[in-house]
Parts: sequence; structure tokens; C-alpha cells
Amino acid sequence: MAKEDNVSQSSSQQENTNYQGIHGTKLLGKVKLIFEDTEIELPVFEGTESDKAIDISQLRAMTGLITFDNGFGNTGSCISAITYIDGEQGILRYRGYDIDALARNCTFIEVAYLLLEGKLPTQKELGEFSSYLNEHSLLHEDMTHFFTGFPRKAHPMAILSATIGSLSTFYPELDDAHENFKITTARLLSKVRTIAAFSYKKSQGEPFVYPRHDLSYCANFLNMMFASSIRNYEPTPLLVKALNLVMVLHADHEQNCSTSTVRMVGSGRVNLYAAISSGISALWGPLHGGASQHVLEMLERIRNDDCNYKKYLEMAKDKDDPFRLMGFGHRIYKNYDPRARILKETCDAVLNELKHTDPLVDIAKHLEQTALQDDYFIEKRLYPNIDFYSGLLYRAMGIPLNMMVVMFAIARMPGQIAQWREEALDPNWKIWRPRQIYSGETRREFLPMEKRKE
Ligand code: ACO
Repeated sequence: MAKEDNVSQSSSQQENTNYQGIHGTKLLGKVKLIFEDTEIELPVFEGTESDKAIDISQLRAMTGLITFDNGFGNTGSCISAITYIDGEQGILRYRGYDIDALARNCTFIEVAYLLLEGKLPTQKELGEFSSYLNEHSLLHEDMTHFFTGFPRKAHPMAILSATIGSLSTFYPELDDAHENFKITTARLLSKVRTIAAFSYKKSQGEPFVYPRHDLSYCANFLNMMFASSIRNYEPTPLLVKALNLVMVLHADHEQNCSTSTVRMVGSGRVNLYAAISSGISALWGPLHGGASQHVLEMLERIRNDDCNYKKYLEMAKDKDDPFRLMGFGHRIYKNYDPRARILKETCDAVLNELKHTDPLVDIAKHLEQTALQDDYFIEKRLYPNIDFYSGLLYRAMGIPLNMMVVMFAIARMPGQIAQWREEALDPNWKIWRPRQIYSGETRREFLPMEKRKE
């Protein structure tokens, strides 16, 4: 079978024409594939950052073969203009802007606008967008009854996913089209924060605190979480800034597990609420958005075990032990996750300013330093990911353990909505339907009950 370096180029193919009319791509050449007595050529194209792909969409029709890619590590599922990652170099950009610049200079709402609209907002546009979000921040009063039906100990992520899905029962007009996109986006972005805070209040047995028009997006969330009729609460600028930053870092991450779920579900043309509700469920797992909670639980376990972090590093390296160092490793980043670097700094700054000491932070730092010098982690190119530090930051802000993944879900909302929309507007849209290699029984004769053996 010919390799990718068999790419042949002709001068006409090098012209900067969009491959199959797909903006931002260009045809590079062809790759030859030889199997038994069949030889075919498959097109190779590249995107704006020179990332290259072989187009195999005609492969089965031409050869009867499909590709097999366990975990989709080598499969491009779509062409997207939203987020760019170079995992080898540790680069992350939203709509062309470096994550570092966005995290240090923008609010979460500015970045949400950028992801959704493809450009940074002017002051006027930002003002309009914020007012629009404000208008849609309340839940329909009937929805508040849902919260009384959930058990007191219900995980807020389960409540969030169920309640977001139920938004389509309140706003069914959404089913019809993309003209409603603006209003639906505002509802989702704004209400997800209200639902999350209400689910926390429910778990505490406290009355709900409603959103306020005079507070910014992040300040409003903190207020809904922590204000109460018997406790004064004023969200401090330090915490509001830190929350904005961590949410900007989480706002999108191209075709990860939960975003791909949104696109997969969305490909069947379900409404946006249903697609996002599925994405929220996909985010929950410990290998994905749930990692921050599991990092804290791991650090707590180490603290209760005489802070013996070296023992846990050895466990993580042991093939026979299912334990993994939570918050370490990433499918895409084979260099330091750029989000983790920014978050580590922010976590230190917040703890310093709050004059807050947390023994778990010291354990985390020792773990990180030792792992980064350990041959196992060096060889496998395992670095801390964003969730190694996000849980510690949220903990310093007073966010409880089971709300960590909910914070991630709120922050990932603009990215997931932008990705759903990009798919919905794609003229080459197809329902997602992967194939498989079957490994079960071949055809068997049916046996009536009396002839079946134990
Ligand atoms: N601790 C110990 N070993 C690890 C770890 C870890 N955290 N992560 C990967 N490895 C090892 C694997 O055992 C494997 O070893 P092998 O080649 O000897 O079999 C090798 O490194 C490659 O790991 P894979 O699991 O094949 O890598 P994959 O890309 O499939 O998984 C994942 C990535 C799921 C993030 C993994 O690194 C992991 O489980 N990390 C811990 C959970 C975590 O922090 N998840 C959050 C990710 S960020 C996010 O989703 C927001």
C-alpha cells in the first residue's frame, strides 16, 4: 500500500482553488493506494494552517474497503473554521486569535460572541449582545417546578442535561429554522447559568436566587450561587475576573468528545437544545470534562495517604493498576496544554490574593514536577491538561466538587453552539453514520425453544 508521501502534485493542482468548493481548503495532490490487483488515487487537500488530509469518501465505492480508526485519532470528521489546535506546538486559537491574548484581555461574553459570529465585537455589539442575554436569563416560572421533582442528592450535571433538553418543550418554535438562532443562542447561553445555579441551590435546600440585570455574566452566576437572604454576598472583581478567564479557556476545543457528540446528534437535524443536552451528557465522563472533580478526589486521596504522591505516580505507571494520573495526558496535546499553563498562573495569583492556602495545591505541584521529570511521562509525552488546575481554582472560589463539571458545561456552551451552527449551515451536510467491522457469529440456524441446550 502506498504511503502518504506518495503525494503527486501537478502545477494545475497547486492553484489556490477551494477543494470541492470548500472555503479555506485547497487540493494538494493525490495519494496512491494499491490493494491486491486494484490501484486507486485519492485526493489530498489542506486547510489554512497546512493541516493535510486524504479524502477517503469514495474509498468503499472504489475498493469495497472501509478505514478503521479506533478512537478516531486519525479521522477528520468535518471542516471547521472555528478553533485551531496544533498539539505538537501547544497552540490553541479561536477564530485565529491566540488563546493567551483572549484569556488575558476578554470577558467570556466577548469570546462567546467571537466564537458565534466569527469576529470580536465592537463596544456597541457587545452591549447589545449582553442586553439580549440579560433579557433571556430568567427561566419560565413553570420550569422551576422541575427542580422540586429531582432527589435532593441529584448530581447537578444530570439536572442540567435534563433541563436543557426540556427547553424545547417551552420553546418549540425553535424546531423550524435558523432565523431563530439568535434568540435560541441567547436562551441557551443565559439560561444554562441560571439552571446550573438553581440546581446547586436545590442541593443545598436553599431558595433560588434570580439573575440580576445589573451584574455581568460571571458576577451574576456567582451571585446566584452564593447570595442568600441571610448572607450578604458581593462577587469580588478578583473572582469575577478569574471565572471569566477559566471560562474563556474552556469555551471551545474543536472536535473533542462532547462537541463531536453535539455534531453527531445534530447531524440527524435535531433541534439545538436536544443536541446540546447530549453534549452536556458526553462532557460528564472522568476522561473528559469530569476530570477536574476526579483530580480533586485524587489529590484528597493522596493527602489522606500521608501525602505520598510518589506512590500514586508509581500506580499510574503500573500497567496492571487501572489508576491513572487524573488531569494528565491529552489526545491532541503532546506538549504542554497552553490552557493549563495560563490556569496554573491564575490559580497561584487567586490563592495569593485571597491569602488562601490549600494543601491540595502543594500536592498538585509536587506531582506535576515529579511527573514531568519521570521517564514514563516524558516518553509518553504526558503533560498536565487544563483540568489539572481548573478544579483547584474553582475550589478556591468556593465552587463545590459536584459543580466542577457543570462549570465546564456552562463554559463550553458557546463553542458547542457555534459548532452545531457551522454544521447546520454546511451545504455539504450529511447525517453521521460510521461503519464497523463485524466480529460476531456468522449466520446460525434458528432453534425453537425445545431444541435449545443449556
Ligand atoms: N496516567 C498514566 N498513564 C497515562 C495517562 C495518565 N493520565 N494518560 C495516558 N497514559 C498512558 C496510557 O496508559 C497509554 O500507555 P500505553 O501506550 O503503554 O498503553 C499512553 O499513555 C497513551 O494513552 P491513551 O489512553 O492511549 O491516550 P488517549 O489519547 O486515548 O487518552 C486521555 C487521552 C483520555 C486524556 C488520557 O490521557 C487520560 O485518561 N488522562 C486522564 C484523564 C484526564 O485528565 N482527562 C481530561 C482530558 S482534558 C479534557 O477532556 C478537558
